[in-house]
Amino acid sequence: MGRLDERVAIVTGAGRGVGRAHALALASEGAAVIVNDLGGTARGEGSDPTPAQEVVAEIEAAGGRAVANSADVSDWEASGEMVRHAIGTYGRLDVLVNNAGILRDRSIANMSEDEWDVVVAVHLKGHGATMHHACRYWREQSKAGEAVDAAIINTTSVSGILGQFGQTNYGAAKAGIAALTVIGQLEMERFGVRVNCIAPYARTRLTGMPGPTSDDFDALDPSNIAPFVAYLASPGCPMKGKVFFVHGGTIQLARPWNLAESINKDGRWEVDELFEAAAPLADIDVAPRMPA
Ligand SMILES: NC(=O)c1ccc[n+]([C@@H]2O[C@H](COP(=O)([O-])OP(=O)(O)OC[C@H]3O[C@@H](n4cnc5c(N)ncnc54)[C@H](O)[C@@H]3O)[C@@H](O)[C@H]2O)c1
Repeated sequence: MGRLDERVAIVTGAGRGVGRAHALALASEGAAVIVNDLGGTARGEGSDPTPAQEVVAEIEAAGGRAVANSADVSDWEASGEMVRHAIGTYGRLDVLVNNAGILRDRSIANMSEDEWDVVVAVHLKGHGATMHHACRYWREQSKAGEAVDAAIINTTSVSGILGQFGQTNYGAAKAGIAALTVIGQLEMERFGVRVNCIAPYARTRLTGMPGPTSDDFDALDPSNIAPFVAYLASPGCPMKGKVFFVHGGTIQLARPWNLAESINKDGRWEVDELFEAAAPLADIDVAPRMPA
């Protein structure tokens, strides 16, 4: 008996890296998995169906159920086709793991329009498009009287929730994904959908970290992230609208943007008086804290 028996899950960008590990873990817990991957380069160039097919073969060899899907998640219609692919193949959809991603790092002053557009499209639109189609399906199920117990797991980054130099395109998209998670939860809770988000940290082609140098626990293994994703995907999981930093054996809850000290006046401020009244706000330390 697995935690995800009878459940059907889509994992985007599941041909490599942390997405591949998510797909293997969900399948080993009993889910039928739509292994989505466009198969391009880390910069988002080209396409190749092989990575997704290889993960499907791995899942099947381990006795699981999976089917490959090569939709580009930044394509609104193709994302709809992927949701229909899941429902057409396995009769239902219960879990959506939005993970596909690329990088085109550049400081804002040097950024090209294309570098901006393609990164925001794959990450932010790639999450919004799949969520739109899956949420329409779950809303219909709920309105038809079905008991919906669905889960969305989105993928943000330390760059999106704390900020990282040289990643304005990526970090802005990832911050948007954290907001999409919080708002998605507000909108979809009444239809039986939980929406959570992870910021993983692991060795993949995107991070290019060196391999393990000892037989000790490998905290950078991308497979370390997957059990928490399987947990978030499971019926009975209590998490709703939350964002977590996940690395090795650490699962750390993130606090969203919060309001701090204020200055107040019974009326509209004059610019000149703000030079004095607002000055103390400049000295309050609200700098984000990087995880240890
Ligand atoms: N590895 C980390 O430490 C880390 C840190 C923070 C966030 N992330 C996020 O985790 C996710 C997975 O990254 P990874 O490190 O495993 O990278 P990866 O390159 O190993 O895997 C990403 C996969 O997404 C696929 N993909 C890219 N664009 C796609 C599209 N338009 N449609 C469908 N598939 C597409 C790629 O082909 C690739 O197989 C990304 O969203 C990334 O931003 C990773």
